[in-house]
Amino acid sequence: MNKQQAQKRIEQLQEQIRYHNYRYYVLDEPIISDAEYDRLFQELQQLEEQYPQLITPDSPTQRVGAPPREELGTVEHTVPMLSLQSVYEEEDFRHFLQTVTDETGDDVSFVAEPKYDGLAVELIYRDGVLQVASTRGDGWVGEDITDNVRTIRTVPLRLIKAEGAPPVPPLLEIRSEVFMPVAAFHQLNRQREAQGQSPFANPRNAAAGSVRQLDSTITAARPLDMYAYAVGRVEGHAFSNEWEVLQTLPQWGLKVDDRNTLCASAQECLDYYQQLAQQREDLPYEIDGVVFKVNDFALQQALGSRTRSPRWAVAYKFAARQATTTIKDIIVSVGRTGALTPVAMLEPVQISGVTVSRASLHNQDEIDRKDIRIGDTVLVERAGDVIPYVVKVIPEQRDGTQQQFRIPDKCPVCGTEVLRTEDDPIVRCPNIDCPAQIEGRIEHFASRRGLDIDGLGEKLIAQLVEIGLVERLPDLYDLTQDQLAGLERLADKSAQNLLDALKASKKTTLPRFLYALGIFQVGEHIAHLLAEHFGNLPAIMDASYDELVAIHEIGPEIATSVRRFFDAPQNRQVVAELLERGIQIEQAQPTAATLAGVSFVFTGALKEFSRDQARQAVEQRGGRVTSSVSRNTDYVVVGSNPGSKYDAARELGVNILDEEAFKRLLTEV
Ligand code: IVH
Repeated sequence: MNKQQAQKRIEQLQEQIRYHNYRYYVLDEPIISDAEYDRLFQELQQLEEQYPQLITPDSPTQRVGAPPREELGTVEHTVPMLSLQSVYEEEDFRHFLQTVTDETGDDVSFVAEPKYDGLAVELIYRDGVLQVASTRGDGWVGEDITDNVRTIRTVPLRLIKAEGAPPVPPLLEIRSEVFMPVAAFHQLNRQREAQGQSPFANPRNAAAGSVRQLDSTITAARPLDMYAYAVGRVEGHAFSNEWEVLQTLPQWGLKVDDRNTLCASAQECLDYYQQLAQQREDLPYEIDGVVFKVNDFALQQALGSRTRSPRWAVAYKFAARQATTTIKDIIVSVGRTGALTPVAMLEPVQISGVTVSRASLHNQDEIDRKDIRIGDTVLVERAGDVIPYVVKVIPEQRDGTQQQFRIPDKCPVCGTEVLRTEDDPIVRCPNIDCPAQIEGRIEHFASRRGLDIDGLGEKLIAQLVEIGLVERLPDLYDLTQDQLAGLERLADKSAQNLLDALKASKKTTLPRFLYALGIFQVGEHIAHLLAEHFGNLPAIMDASYDELVAIHEIGPEIATSVRRFFDAPQNRQVVAELLERGIQIEQAQPTAATLAGVSFVFTGALKEFSRDQARQAVEQRGGRVTSSVSRNTDYVVVGSNPGSKYDAARELGVNILDEEAFKRLLTEV
């Protein structure tokens, strides 16, 4: 590769790495595996080593992590929080050991620790009291996550001194890993799915997302744990090696892993690595390798550091949980919210002890970006015990029989034409009757902001659907005491309560009813807008696309979604049947035309009204709003920083109102 080619490749790699950094650090939503990322990173590092003149200060190799999130405060690390060099092959690991022994002599020993797959957190204790907790950030400046970390039960808020232990030093900076144990992660995801929230991709993302919350009560509800593994700055106590640190911290009340060990030779290091690799699937937390650190601090000093990582430590990563296999078919599954998800049906393959036969392809964009076709040979990864995904296609394996795939235009479950929008890569089935969605639809319909049907919870809904008592929304209103009384876990009294709640739900308002229908992109606010603008249900059901987009705040996406919803005959049928069952939509009081024929001009900013709200308020009362002042203008309403219209009004002698006077005028009858 010549210099010009190298430059081009370097730019490409930088761009890719930047994008993946963003997905990983900012969104907590990586789309490639760590191994894949490391490969890109190492390729960039090697090229930059070869052509140092091509290194730019903004190259991803020139910093450790991601910039801190601005909403959280920042904390400077007095001792930078470095990263670790990764190796994947035994040969490269041996090379590391060799380099170290070449410089330090043969009798060097290493501390070996699991490499936790969580996130690095620094804890600063002053006089034994936890003062600050921060993320690694870019290595020099991290995010202040003190309030959040204080909610983690295994992080001591105050250190203790065990009997015979050295006194707790006046300043102690602890380096630790915060993570979510695997079992707790699964439980949290089950809970989230039950509540209609999207599950976390893996325990690491769950931990990172939890710790970087702005609201620490959310963190408090998340099952996080921690292990301390090193110290930063320490005043008032001198450690001479890593092992001593690991032995002392627990005596001060900090949680340290007892899987850590001291290795006196290369063979002991390799044995430990093998042993941990075998235990990996059975450990209560996720690890992705073993960290080896030169034990002696004096030797560490002698070895020194590179920009991003120390020369005295290495992360010897486990083989990625990947395998190649072929895609036999791609099917589309319809979720509870109507999202159509393409799923690759794989030739079953073993990946670290688990048979994998399906992989999520997420959406059409993802399929197109990776150019995934039926019949392709693909690299599949199982990361963190969650549904496996396709890392990439192996195009060399194509023989011409592969077929491109497109998510169909009709829902595979009910045949309704699907909804595609530009903003959202996810295709949805808008049919309120779609059997795949019925439980989710009922939950939404009955929710507090919907028709608020008390007692109609997730479990009961599942039961009603399962035994066939409810197949469609209107069926809810046909339920009888007899039917309900026979149900498991539903006492007579709660059966009656449910019937009462159903009856009570029949009296509702237009915005609630609209919201309850679960039209994609019609949340409470848009439901209110529609109700206010059109005033009644038939007008909304028949509003044209043009009428809909003409409403302020309603864009093409929402207009299409509303139109598509009411274009589907099944949806109109459901609405009709609900009304037949006696749902009464309270008519909002029409506003009296108290300003009929009165003309207004606005200038300057009002405090309580946007321009549109002010216009609506006038128009609802029969008045008109014009843009320029003339002798025919009845009122000019003046807010702060008025423009030339204010002068014009004074010149022409038009009535001038301030905001208070305008409000009074609106309430006059
Ligand atoms: S020591 C200079 N020990 O690995 C050495 N790091 O690349 C600094 N990590 O995100 C780190 N387990 O959170 C160390 N036993 C362990 C670790 C560990 C996981 C993470 C750490 C950081 C990354 C460093």
